[in-house]
Amino acid sequence: MPRQLFVTTALPYANGPFHIGHIMEHIQADIWVRYQRMQGHAVNFVCADDTHGAPIMIAAEKADKTPEQFVADIAAGRKQYLDGFHLSFDNWHSTHSPENTELARQIYRDLRDLSADKGGSLIETKTIEQFFDPEKNMFLPDRYFKGECPKCHAKDQYGDNCEVCGSVYAPTDLINPFSVLSGAKPELKSSEHFFFKLSDPRCVDFLQKWTQDGKLQPEVANKIKEWFSVRTNPDGSKSEGLGDWDISRDAPYFGIEIPDAPGKYFYVWLDAPVGYLASLKNWFDKGGPKIKHGDTRSFDEYMAADDTEQYHFIGKDIVTFHTLFWPAMLKFSGRKTPNNVFVHGFLTINNGEKMSKSRGTGLSPLKYLDLGMNAEWLRYYLAARLSARNEDIDFNADDFMARVNSDLIGKYVNIASRAAGFLTKRFEGKLTSDFGTTGAALLADVRGAGDAIAQMYETREFGKATREIMLLADKVNAYVDQNKPWDLAKDVANNQALHQVCSVLINTFATLTRYLAPVLPGLATAVQGFVGSDMTRWQVAGNVQAITPYQHLMQRVTPEQLDALFEPPAPVESAQPATVTIATVPGGEEIAPVIGIDDFVKIDLRIAKIVECAAVEGSTKLLRLTLDAGEGRMRNVFSGIASMYKPEELVGQLTVLVANLAPRKMKFGISEGMVLAASHGDEKANPGIYILNPWPGAQPGMRIH
Ligand code: 2FM
Ligand code: ZN
Repeated sequence: MPRQLFVTTALPYANGPFHIGHIMEHIQADIWVRYQRMQGHAVNFVCADDTHGAPIMIAAEKADKTPEQFVADIAAGRKQYLDGFHLSFDNWHSTHSPENTELARQIYRDLRDLSADKGGSLIETKTIEQFFDPEKNMFLPDRYFKGECPKCHAKDQYGDNCEVCGSVYAPTDLINPFSVLSGAKPELKSSEHFFFKLSDPRCVDFLQKWTQDGKLQPEVANKIKEWFSVRTNPDGSKSEGLGDWDISRDAPYFGIEIPDAPGKYFYVWLDAPVGYLASLKNWFDKGGPKIKHGDTRSFDEYMAADDTEQYHFIGKDIVTFHTLFWPAMLKFSGRKTPNNVFVHGFLTINNGEKMSKSRGTGLSPLKYLDLGMNAEWLRYYLAARLSARNEDIDFNADDFMARVNSDLIGKYVNIASRAAGFLTKRFEGKLTSDFGTTGAALLADVRGAGDAIAQMYETREFGKATREIMLLADKVNAYVDQNKPWDLAKDVANNQALHQVCSVLINTFATLTRYLAPVLPGLATAVQGFVGSDMTRWQVAGNVQAITPYQHLMQRVTPEQLDALFEPPAPVESAQPATVTIATVPGGEEIAPVIGIDDFVKIDLRIAKIVECAAVEGSTKLLRLTLDAGEGRMRNVFSGIASMYKPEELVGQLTVLVANLAPRKMKFGISEGMVLAASHGDEKANPGIYILNPWPGAQPGMRIH
């Protein structure tokens, strides 16, 4: 039964070109979409630019452009990436569009005008006080104010939290605040804001079910569960469950004006996901969409149909918007909710910095293309690293070269080149369907793996799928080595055997190409010309009949290309001087002078969970840990344990944090505490540093006494 799928990737902000994190997400979704299309399903795969909000408005002003012009210029730059990385979106649109304006307003009205028998309106207004820049004559987001931290008195801190001591506060708590835009002293001004009543029991009940019914990835669902609970933090403060969501901003704002509320605009995150629908509607209006039941469904009918499945691929940083706000908006405005949201982790480059949106450096996608590097190398490499889990993956240059050159080319592409020459020279390019016993068995084996591999694509286990395909390629290569076509070719008496072996190879190659086609669409098209069989369908009956003369299908990656792609590595830190060994003392270090309990209790030791962990670019010793000590915020801590642990081993582990150590400014950023680790006093003679790990049962935030 063909399925009807509506698939999106997150709408990138129209404030800059794509970075490699965007490309990874697009490739992940594109592989899934291409696989679905090969299965004969009707897919509409759309995206758009996310154009609204204060940061874009301000960036446009800096660039001396109108916001409209600014986002149009960004939009004009998208195609080179989409084409360059073989991304098969059906439509690319914009949230600054008539479709989005109309849809966002309609959804809002539906939420506002909910009748009494449905529990009444889910929109309410509240008057709130906010900082106002009197020179710019506008309310500004928290990040556009700075001042002195009310806790540690560090200067030049943002309005929402202090980067030195890590405390979180309201912008109004800042000492001597000033506007980042104008330098003016902000004024407190009150204004009426519109809220979506997410704390309403209707929303809470619905969302609890929607997020916990088993569709979401388990690690995502577990995280979300915490957001519903009312709990006491270690510092005694209370964390509420779901709060109401402020969906309005005051003029001047680049966005969509709220119906019946002049001068009030939708907050960008209200209209951004509506952009998914706007892009699809625009695609319908262009007459483009793939529809299962003939061409008569309107956009509204398509969206309301039971058999339309809606999926969003997103990064782990925007889960709240997609699993709470967006489903609730759809549900209570009387629309169908997404079937699922597929969350991926961040991409790190050569074990370096996290590819967040603000720091998207490291591997420039455009440079990659400009260097003439093959987009399908990257698609293959990312596929090989991706799983269905929400976990970070690393792009490692050496690994990239090995997987492309040894696996993709060495194991798979070479199958064709080993057989094609003989077939063309000796058999006029014609194949036999007499495969011999072992050949037929091998072919049956390769073809028989199709269902299992299909299931891996379906469940987004792309790494598993590529591994399985390479195992099949290994079997094919073992068959080549057993049958040695180059030896057979020496004596015409072996012609029949040579013909059999080469025909088996081309047929297995055609099947493996089909299995790889969602990942390598360009290569699959080239192979289609070579073997004359359809590479756009997962199931194709019949054998390859003949080939055209073999043309080189794929070049190898060279180290020079990778060198050119990455900046030269930053200089390595100088080694610490070795400490003197004292052979007679435990652990190579004298016991420290006696202290009383009063001294000990000054040290606040807490259980902390390592939520994220990454290598530190330019340092061979340090790892950057993101720790959750139950405070409702994360701490950034550097620790000199890189020689002992891979970042991925530590993620999810509990450890011990010195929670009240004064923050320290280090070369790579601020360290907000220290984790405990054991090492020998003479590191040189007894290298090794071992992080502490509590017994099961300990929870983040618990104090160690
Ligand atoms: O986080 C972001 O980059 C947003 N522009 C994603 C928006 S996704 C959707 F809701 F539009
Ligand atoms: Zn501070």
